[in-house]
Amino acid sequence: MKVVHLAASALCLAGLSLAWNVDQSVLSEGRYDSGLFMPMEDLNALLESTFTTLEHPAFPKHSVRIKKTEFCDETVNAYTGYIDVEARHLFFYFFESRSEPEKDDVVFWTNGGPGGSSSLGLFMELGPCRVVSADSTRFHPESWNSKANVFFIDQPVGVGFSYASHGEYVSTTEEAAKDIAAFVHVFFEHFKKFQGNPFHMAGESYGGRYIPIFAAEVYDQNRRLVEEGLQPINLSSIMIGNGKTDFMSMYPAYYEVVCTPVTRDPILDIAACVRMKQAVPRCIEWAQKGCVDTFDMFSCQAAISFCKTEIMGPFEALGLNPYDISGKCEGDEADTLCYPITKDIAHYLDRPDVRKLIGVDPSVTQNFTGVNMTVNAAFIAAMDGYHPTFHYVSNLLDRGIKALIYVGKNDWICNHVGNERWTLDLEWSGGEGFRNSPKREWLVGGKVAGETRSFGGLTFATVIGAGHMVPYDKPAEALQLVNRWFAGEEL
Ligand SMILES: *[C@@H]1O[C@H](CO)[C@@H](O)[C@H](O)[C@H]1NC(C)=O
Ligand SMILES: *[C@@H]1O[C@H](CO)[C@@H](O)[C@H](O)[C@H]1NC(C)=O
Ligand SMILES: *[C@@H]1O[C@H](CO)[C@@H](O)[C@H](O)[C@H]1NC(C)=O
Repeated sequence: MKVVHLAASALCLAGLSLAWNVDQSVLSEGRYDSGLFMPMEDLNALLESTFTTLEHPAFPKHSVRIKKTEFCDETVNAYTGYIDVEARHLFFYFFESRSEPEKDDVVFWTNGGPGGSSSLGLFMELGPCRVVSADSTRFHPESWNSKANVFFIDQPVGVGFSYASHGEYVSTTEEAAKDIAAFVHVFFEHFKKFQGNPFHMAGESYGGRYIPIFAAEVYDQNRRLVEEGLQPINLSSIMIGNGKTDFMSMYPAYYEVVCTPVTRDPILDIAACVRMKQAVPRCIEWAQKGCVDTFDMFSCQAAISFCKTEIMGPFEALGLNPYDISGKCEGDEADTLCYPITKDIAHYLDRPDVRKLIGVDPSVTQNFTGVNMTVNAAFIAAMDGYHPTFHYVSNLLDRGIKALIYVGKNDWICNHVGNERWTLDLEWSGGEGFRNSPKREWLVGGKVAGETRSFGGLTFATVIGAGHMVPYDKPAEALQLVNRWFAGEEL
């Protein structure tokens, strides 16, 4: 493997904020266009045995290590690698579209957590193959790369196969967003054949916080790219599945989901429901004051702790699957996330031949974990999730970036009631129009797949029969949903 020299790495031990760094002398001397930089027009030129390192004179701190990797979907070109942003190294899988890669949209996918690896999205939800046992994968016909080029990225550093050279870590979404914007920019700068294709940023669960902030960073970065005479990213939409975008909307929603028939018949005893109902206003008032109006870490923590005990506790004591209230949790949640397939994925990704095939950096020696609990704990300690993320969505919508908010109806943790609530409350130029738009059913193959409301750039949709991981439970419906979205059609 070619060694990548990171001259600046020792200097950025403490420098968590990676300034977007253009070497002005390179640009002003016109060297950018003078043949020194050869973008990798043809991905087919990449080798399978080793990484090729791609650099760009205008971006001395960023590079890409990429290799062609024949796995998972042999009908398309697949690549794996790292985007190196100084001392931080973000692992990605990239699958070209099964239709027309040059013309099709490009999708960025991240799982949530925080600390969750996007390998879970790839190998159990929307990727071109699914892990079926520790030793095998199977072609997945309903993959989102049916009509789009799709990325899966392990972020922030520390998650999955991503790592940092000096052990630094990221504990807020805003920090993670800087690396993601650099990643996206470096990718399109090198792979010109995708430049200009509509770009969608998609995620699930905690992705409801990540994605609006990542997309805002990419949007704001575009202005700087244009100023430097570089191509902006054609950011087209954000897509959020069962997201945590407005944590406040969830507390009253937890009551509704377990004590009223919005999803299934009420689950909890009347006595428990009455106690919960009475706790809701106190939780809201306290959390609003401590977390939203003023962000005071101690009073926010105290409020959240009260809300958790009174409003989430009674459901959690039942042992139902918090991601799908139609059934019990399979296995111990801390071990399997209620889905034993996650163990098979981990075993598959621990196989030395698989790690060699996809090019996991030799410095990553730990066993694979679906959710890195160190990263998770760092985000929780920073109270990252208790900021109102929906303002980013309003700002994106008002700049013409569309938003698809879809929700599997059986989920408890990031449920449809809370997600519908914040989309209705959202203040943006189309807010009134959205609130006045009727909700209607949407169909797949003549059957009702869920309900939807849409106005201007914003679409809300539920998926019946799906839990937290919509493409896992309802692959055909999920694919129809996203393909209609990419095509700009009504659901
Ligand atoms: C989890 O992340 C931390 C912080 O980035 C890192 O030091 C650690 O190696 C990661 N653990 C695993 C199991 O990947
Ligand atoms: C961006 O994508 C849209 C389709 O969403 C297309 O109409 C437009 O021409 C693209 N813009 C650029 C600059 O390539
Ligand atoms: C890694 O996984 C293997 C096999 O699953 C196990 O034997 C080993 O103890 C694990 N190592 C660590 C450090 O957890």
